[in-house]
Amino acid sequence: MNYNNILISLKDNISTIIINRPKKLNALNKETIEELHDAFYNANEDKNIKVIILTGSGEKAFVAGADISEFANFDVEEGTRLAAKGQEILFDFVENLSTPVIAAINGFALGGGLELAMACHFRVASENAKMGLPEVSLGVIPGYGGTQRLPQLVGKGLAMEMIMTAGMINAETALNYGLVNHVTKQEELIPLCQKIASKISNNSSVAISAAIKAVNANFKDGVNGFHVEVTEFGNCFGTEDFEEGTSAFLEKRKADFPGC
Ligand code: COA
Repeated sequence: MNYNNILISLKDNISTIIINRPKKLNALNKETIEELHDAFYNANEDKNIKVIILTGSGEKAFVAGADISEFANFDVEEGTRLAAKGQEILFDFVENLSTPVIAAINGFALGGGLELAMACHFRVASENAKMGLPEVSLGVIPGYGGTQRLPQLVGKGLAMEMIMTAGMINAETALNYGLVNHVTKQEELIPLCQKIASKISNNSSVAISAAIKAVNANFKDGVNGFHVEVTEFGNCFGTEDFEEGTSAFLEKRKADFPGC
């Protein structure tokens, strides 16, 4: 697939996907969502890629939301389809990838932009970042998982306030809320994400993907996370990574995980 709206680079087993519509503050139109699905799918299939960093192009925005111009005339059926399709091919898809995804929030992360950052496994922000779910100011609600993931990350009360006021919070407040894990200067954002990614990439990718499944299970209706943990824990004992990890420890050397 040729991409019109995203850029991809690869360095040391770390893939960086950049949403590249800076003139529209990287707003998510249909084509961008489809391209992101394809890029995430391919990165997840590529065993050389250990971590994915997602960021926005330019210095102003991560993503300023879903592209309002595309859905302004939608009816009930089209609105329902928009949310369902987006959640399926991008937001839920990213959350359930077996490769870790870090959101590098380099500016505005609003509406669908914050929802995309929240679908990533964790978030790092630059000092100029601004985050919010402004949908109710447009007469709609967050439709890409925002009403579910924001309370999971910051708690129900803060999520309710952010959603109801449609306001923006700055990076420092987001850090206090636990919405982002770290805040750094803009020029240090990608280097910091790469440093964290590099630490992750030294570990067993098989165990990491099992950990993602187990942690996510805690937030899935009708799924017992403890049971998922037991199963995933047990499965690890059948992997080459487990053999290598435990042998390396006992032999007092650094593990070199085969990733299977
Ligand atoms: N959808 C479509 N286009 C968007 C967009 C969005 N979510 N967010 C920004 N843009 C476009 C603007 O229309 C403008 O395009 P134009 O130059 O062709 O007119 C361009 O990006 C630059 O945005 P602009 O509003 O001029 O920048 P600003 O610095 O004055 O304001 C924001 C920045 C983020 C405060 C403002 O763009 C904004 O409120 N965007 C919408 C945020 C939102 O409600 N998102 C949730 C959608 S559900």
